[in-house]
Amino acid sequence: MQLRRRNFLAASFVGLAILSIGCHVVDTPTPGADARVPDENGYKLWLRYAPPGKSVDQYLRLIRLVIVQGDSATSRIIGKELSSALNMMFGSPVPVSRTWKPKPAVIIGTPATSKVIRGLKWENDLIATGLDGFIIRSTRMEGQSVIVIASAGEIGALYGTFHFLRLLQTGQSIQELSIVERPKVQLRLLNHWDNLDGSIERGYAGRSLWQWNELPGKLDPRYTDYARVNASVGINGAVINNVNADVRILTGEYLEKVAALANLWRPYGIRVYLSANFAAPVRLGGLPNADPLDPAVVDWWKAKAEEIYRLIPDFGGFLVKANSEGQPGPKDYGRTHAEGANMLADALAPHGGIVIWRAFVYDEDVDPDRVKRAYIEFTRLDGQFRPNAVVQVKNGPIDFQPREPFHSLFGGMKQTPVLAELQATQEYLGQAKHLVYHGTMWKEFLDSDTFARGSGSTVGKVLEGAVHPYRITGMVSVVNPGLDTNWCGHHFSQANWYAFGRLAWNHRLSAEQIAEEWARMTFTNDDPTVDTIRDMMMSSWETYVSYTMPLGLHHLIGFDHYAPMPENDTAPREDWTAVFYHRADADGIGFDRTKRGNKAVEQYFPPVCDLFDNLASCPEKFLLWFHRCSWDYRMKSGKMLWQELCDKYYSGAEQASAMQGTWQSLAGRIDSRRHKEVADRLAIQAADSAKWRDHILQYFQLFSGMPVTPP
Ligand code: GCU
Repeated sequence: MQLRRRNFLAASFVGLAILSIGCHVVDTPTPGADARVPDENGYKLWLRYAPPGKSVDQYLRLIRLVIVQGDSATSRIIGKELSSALNMMFGSPVPVSRTWKPKPAVIIGTPATSKVIRGLKWENDLIATGLDGFIIRSTRMEGQSVIVIASAGEIGALYGTFHFLRLLQTGQSIQELSIVERPKVQLRLLNHWDNLDGSIERGYAGRSLWQWNELPGKLDPRYTDYARVNASVGINGAVINNVNADVRILTGEYLEKVAALANLWRPYGIRVYLSANFAAPVRLGGLPNADPLDPAVVDWWKAKAEEIYRLIPDFGGFLVKANSEGQPGPKDYGRTHAEGANMLADALAPHGGIVIWRAFVYDEDVDPDRVKRAYIEFTRLDGQFRPNAVVQVKNGPIDFQPREPFHSLFGGMKQTPVLAELQATQEYLGQAKHLVYHGTMWKEFLDSDTFARGSGSTVGKVLEGAVHPYRITGMVSVVNPGLDTNWCGHHFSQANWYAFGRLAWNHRLSAEQIAEEWARMTFTNDDPTVDTIRDMMMSSWETYVSYTMPLGLHHLIGFDHYAPMPENDTAPREDWTAVFYHRADADGIGFDRTKRGNKAVEQYFPPVCDLFDNLASCPEKFLLWFHRCSWDYRMKSGKMLWQELCDKYYSGAEQASAMQGTWQSLAGRIDSRRHKEVADRLAIQAADSAKWRDHILQYFQLFSGMPVTPP
């Protein structure tokens, strides 16, 4: 078998070289591009505030004045955002006032900042929506129709403002508004994997946004735009450095820089968090060890927390990657993850901070299968974590593969709150070269029923704290912005940042609604164009899965996490190879994780466990994740597994290629600059999807021994 792989390696190298020459990317013309649509560079993301089209008359009638009372930084931001947004959308300014005048108006504020809102006596309703929630209601005052955006908290008023602007941006009616919004989880955080040298781990859109050499003295205006954009979808915190953490971030010099960002972002409701290196007491403090039970270590972290909170009074807390992929951690000293987390939690507790401990651990001594390890490590510690400690779990048990079943720790941790870690940056999903909308993938995950407390215990509800009563709730995404003008590399990758924010706010929103909102705000309100863009987005993930890793296949990549490399058998660790996962040989393909195999299915509650375990009931999208099947295994369609695989790869590559034609049909409806930039990347995607198809099928054919037959 080894020999077959080696031969394949040599042959496929030549094959790939030929393919790459054949598929070189040409500049795609945009025939029919309409000069009346001015070029855009994507910098404004979804806050372009383009004229909203046919609804504008209705808006102009109802918005003759904006009233923002209060004099805080946040109320000034609200006034400024509304004033410039309305000006851009309406083409003429709308006055912003601090005092009520009898006119059709929008009034924004909190009972504390606004006399007008106090007078409405909505306090009880506002308490129910919380400090981040808001109410938007049409009402009348002194004979005038007014729209009130009210919240118990200033940040809630800011979120309400952006929600209201979204209604205008997407061309919705604002006649009889009666909206009550409250976020489903408390923490809606971004994780940046940014290094202090300006590089970004798994970043595909240029270098880091943070200019460490200029901070704290110079504040790039982009930091403010970053905060606005996040606030527009309710994101309320950011871990700004890589989980593979450089200890220098905890030095006084860097903390002053971090404080400058925190000060800037505070009025937008964005709290700063830092990834902490567990060995900092040794590497920075000069202590002989970083043992969490050593009093000197405990004191070092307490003093460090005090230093941080002196500079950043609302510092969010630490994110920690410990004993994972070479990072230091408590296990270096024979201590558990809970002991490590609790030591840091105790240092942060007096200041109101939290520790977010990552469950992305896979020590070989725990279990031979990486899929099972984190569940084993963390469920045995459930109940041992401090009240201000939470565990952050990736959506699936391996590592942001194109499709994974949900991680069994969701629902499995009964006493320790879990946050979901998603990944907007497309590490294994085409790296900002491929158009892949993650909204549909995240919805599959969030809607998965864990059955932790009977039917309906979806992952989303677990995260809300509605299945087990979690004190802390949240969702997190590893994100994709960098210094590229359009922030995310691919214009459509912006949608993943947006979708994360919207789903963190409300995981019950549909992927379709989010895609449509985003398309309207980002490109156009022209209905047929929006329909086309939304449909492209909605099918894009399934398309990507089909031409890369269908039917539950996973990790068919090499070191770059981009190109196909199913023959990969020589990584530094066995569980970084591809062959470890697909296990293809002449008898079949797939990983037997059933009760007869390595029993990974038993980490799920019944009936999910049985659903996955039973070949007849296991969803075919997860077939080879849980089962090992012969090449002639009969699929539900009646086709042989081998033929089904061929069909998936062919149809996926065909759909990827078809996106080019669909996009071409929008020439002239999208500005030509963005149209061309997207078209160029779609050409790369089409070429690379064909490479995936050919490479994978040629490789597996060595084992199946059957011809590659297109559908
Ligand atoms: C993946 C990724 C790494 C990252 C790691 C993590 O393995 O490739 O770059 O550091 O996840 O989530 O910690």
